[in-house]
Amino acid sequence: MHDETIAIHGGYTPDGTRAVAVPIYQTVAHDFIDAAHAGAVLDLETPGFHYNRLNNPTLDVLEQRICALEGGTAALVVASGMAAVSYAILTVASAGSNFVVAPQLYGATFTYFAHVLPTLGIEARFAVDDRAESIAPLIDENTRAVFCETIGNPAGNIVDLEAVAAVAHAAGVPLIVDNTVATPLMLKPFEHGADVVVHSLTKFVGGHGTTLGGAIVDGGRSRGPTIRTASRCSTSPSRPSTMSFSPATFLTGRSPCGPEPLSCATAAPLSPPSTPSCSCKASRRWPCGSSATRPTPERWPTTWPPIPGWPG
Ligand SMILES: Cc1ncc(COP(=O)(O)O)c(C=O)c1O
Repeated sequence: MHDETIAIHGGYTPDGTRAVAVPIYQTVAHDFIDAAHAGAVLDLETPGFHYNRLNNPTLDVLEQRICALEGGTAALVVASGMAAVSYAILTVASAGSNFVVAPQLYGATFTYFAHVLPTLGIEARFAVDDRAESIAPLIDENTRAVFCETIGNPAGNIVDLEAVAAVAHAAGVPLIVDNTVATPLMLKPFEHGADVVVHSLTKFVGGHGTTLGGAIVDGGRSRGPTIRTASRCSTSPSRPSTMSFSPATFLTGRSPCGPEPLSCATAAPLSPPSTPSCSCKASRRWPCGSSATRPTPERWPTTWPPIPGWPG
């Protein structure tokens, strides 16, 4: 599918109303078919929505859309680009660790790295320039990531992603890139070695200057134990956290797009990190069943039922 089509239609399957624009689900919570369904959704054993700080059907479409445009495995959208940058770093780094940065950065990102993260004990090591040769010597055993903007804002420098990815991967750490300025229409960092892409959706992706937003997209590269941070954040093997590192670095269980982002329809409950899966359409929500027709878990529907009287 062309990027232009994904940008308009990606991740959205009209429901029974046949609304062309993505509906805004202004709700904080979703109900459950029964206790078993609630348990399965809350345990991330089956796709579904429950509390909208965690996931929301409207944002789910955006996540699938940006994920498909980037060619990633999964995406998480957040309130702003700065939130996305913050999530990306805080997922891999903690007190006592560091990450290495190409110095040409958006101002607030620089401030966050240089002045805020150090208060948490996380050191941002600024290379003298964006060349791989300048970045490599700063990586040590406490380095958790390499970070750069694919096109620096406002410098306009274009980073040699393949070279920088090579030094990051040689040290077993991920390359996290901010692709805000380039946009996935111009540049797809996963094709050039990046592991995680962040965005300020506030800019070109939003396009209208009306809405703040951010995204973290996971390239889904499984580097297993060579990534030092692998599984560091997982809460348990049986229930991977949203911050396990493989195959979806940040987002296991959240709106995975899979290798065929917009055409997959296979139901895919949260998968263990070793089994990439796809649940684009399966992540649609369930209608409420009456007690008489309440489906068993095996028969939980994955799409809205048609609205009576409306054309199908
Ligand atoms: C490259 C880049 N990253 C991150 C941000 C921060 O995004 P936001 O303003 O949505 O928090 C911006 C904002 O201009 C930016 O240009």
